[in-house]
Amino acid sequence: MRIGMLTSGGDCQALNAAMRGVVKGLANNVDDLEVYGFYEGYKGLIYGNYRLLTSADFSGILTKGGTILGSSRQPFKLMRVPDENGLDKVEAMKANYKKLGLDCLVILGGNGTQKTANLLREEGLNIIHLPKTIDNDIYGTDITFGFYSAINVATYAIDCIHTTATSHNRTFIVEVMGHKVGWLTLYAGVAGGADIILIPEIPYSNEKILDAIEKRRKAGKNFTILAVAEGAISKEDAALSKKELKKKMAKETHPTVSYKLANMITEATGQECRVTVPGHTQRGGSPVPYDRILCTRLGSAAAGAILEGKFGYMVAMVNGETKLVPLKDVAGKLKTVDPDSPMIQEIKRMGISFGD
Ligand code: F6P
Repeated sequence: MRIGMLTSGGDCQALNAAMRGVVKGLANNVDDLEVYGFYEGYKGLIYGNYRLLTSADFSGILTKGGTILGSSRQPFKLMRVPDENGLDKVEAMKANYKKLGLDCLVILGGNGTQKTANLLREEGLNIIHLPKTIDNDIYGTDITFGFYSAINVATYAIDCIHTTATSHNRTFIVEVMGHKVGWLTLYAGVAGGADIILIPEIPYSNEKILDAIEKRRKAGKNFTILAVAEGAISKEDAALSKKELKKKMAKETHPTVSYKLANMITEATGQECRVTVPGHTQRGGSPVPYDRILCTRLGSAAAGAILEGKFGYMVAMVNGETKLVPLKDVAGKLKTVDPDSPMIQEIKRMGISFGD
């Protein structure tokens, strides 16, 4: 059996753990296994940059962050556009797959990666996709790997801010990654005990944020902590069309939404407001035990699918069990936070503000 493997898009903590799960799950059941690793995601598959991996490559990597194969962003939109030398990328990927005589290609990545995985499936390749992203925004799986490790890092940042916040009469903002969705901010915000949580799915108003800060001040609290998603958006901006918003953003002078909010809070309250952006630390470090277990299960389930000759699926986690979900049903769909979900209601009931 000959399989190919690649990791694409932004990295996360448990990519290596997932690859280890796949390879150990196969090696234990197949005598003639060959695994080809493509470097830097689809780039390696397009340009034929790969290496035959050995079992030593998969030893000692369960706890190792990053990806032993490297990664890169290859926008799905550009996959059908020839490169600067006129190379047809899709044909090149198919040719390299065929040249190596692969039985299957295991692709680890987020939403964009998944769209290209589905495109390759449509082109006739045997594909298995594993849902990776700290954003947890892949439709069809309850959870993506990297998410819980990133929650850990973002929560730690909020925890650290908490101890310094108690010494100062200030407002603090911790800006959390998550692209266009609020899962990471919601979970880290709750775990870190943030007073205000702003996520893209619940547009905020400045007045409500200021009300929440004032309410805390009246209750004798000398600080307020906001967990703000990098994609948080005001009610006003959310009402604009995509085109109008793009035009407005082009004139924006603040580096991120958090700095804009910090200015607004200082101007309105006269109180200092500090911004902390943990940024890419949220994708770094060792995976937490939850992600190691998740990836071991997803990886081994992917091996199970390959052994049974089942291709064209994402290996998902649904209600605590691994499940093969057809790529054609999920590619291109985004999983967002439901503002009316029980979790949001439970948090609101405690007086935590979403700025709405
Ligand atoms: O998708 C993962 C993610 O970390 C997002 O949360 C974030 O918006 C983005 O990637 C950052 O991308 P880059 O690593 O290309 O700066």
